[in-house]
Amino acid sequence: MTVVTPHGPAVHGPLIGTSRIGGRGDLYPEERALITNAYPKRVAEFRAGRVLARRLLAKLEAPQGPLLSGPDRAPLWPVGFCGSLSHCDDICVAAVARRSQVEAVGIDVEPYRPLEEPLWDVICRPEEIHNHQRIHSDYRGPGLGARFAFSAKEAVYKALNRYTERELEFHDVSIQVDGDFFRVVDETAGLDSGLVERLVCRWTLVEERWLVTTVILPVSKTPGRVAVRWSTADSSDLRPASRPAP
Ligand SMILES: CC(C)(COP(=O)(O)OP(=O)(O)OC[C@H]1O[C@@H](n2cnc3c(N)ncnc32)[C@H](O)[C@@H]1OP(=O)(O)O)[C@@H](O)C(=O)NCCC(=O)NCCS
Repeated sequence: MTVVTPHGPAVHGPLIGTSRIGGRGDLYPEERALITNAYPKRVAEFRAGRVLARRLLAKLEAPQGPLLSGPDRAPLWPVGFCGSLSHCDDICVAAVARRSQVEAVGIDVEPYRPLEEPLWDVICRPEEIHNHQRIHSDYRGPGLGARFAFSAKEAVYKALNRYTERELEFHDVSIQVDGDFFRVVDETAGLDSGLVERLVCRWTLVEERWLVTTVILPVSKTPGRVAVRWSTADSSDLRPASRPAP
């Protein structure tokens, strides 16, 4: 699936893929060493993420090898590449890109159901929750808006936390939905305004059950069109909705 932002020349965005946790594929010994004492569920999600990311990186002709994690838990991508991972229930999503085209990317997957009410205020700034009312045609209350904000902010964190002097917090940004895209508004994060203007943020549904949000920082100051490709070559891949709910 190719997604196009308005105006300007095309820029290659990330390659995105999804897979079921528990599928085929194994880890390198160095990767296994990162999860020696982990619970089986954690081992399974970690393995699914590594296997999926490796498959996507191979499609971009990246060098193959172990994908280790940095001290902040962010994956260490091969030189010349960037990416992001997320897991939820039995689904795993990954986005990878060439650094010549994309400087940073963050991806998140969440169940497409309302967020529990006690979390709304933790995740959302007061004005945010109700602004999301019209995201989904089957809108079921502000909980779904809060879920959307949560996912989008997790994707923001993964893409942009290393650009800030302190840890990003949920109220540091707000999220504004715009059709199939969303905007990130810097409230108190102190991000470079040029960086925020460059962001291309996209959401979609997978099998109408999972919400996937993606935050892309293209290298170009005027990104124009950013082509996001979904890899659906493997039989275990899940497919995004042909068009998200309006
Ligand atoms: C880091 C965080 C975003 C991960 O999200 P999660 O819900 O625990 O789990 P997900 O499955 O979506 O993502 C996990 C993956 O995120 C990636 N990740 C973890 N820390 C990361 C970091 N600092 N930077 C980038 N990616 C990171 C890893 O790939 C991890 O999977 P792996 O350990 O198997 O490699 C979350 O734990 C967190 O700290 N959130 C609070 C901060 C935040 O979101 N603030 C909002 C700012 S606007």
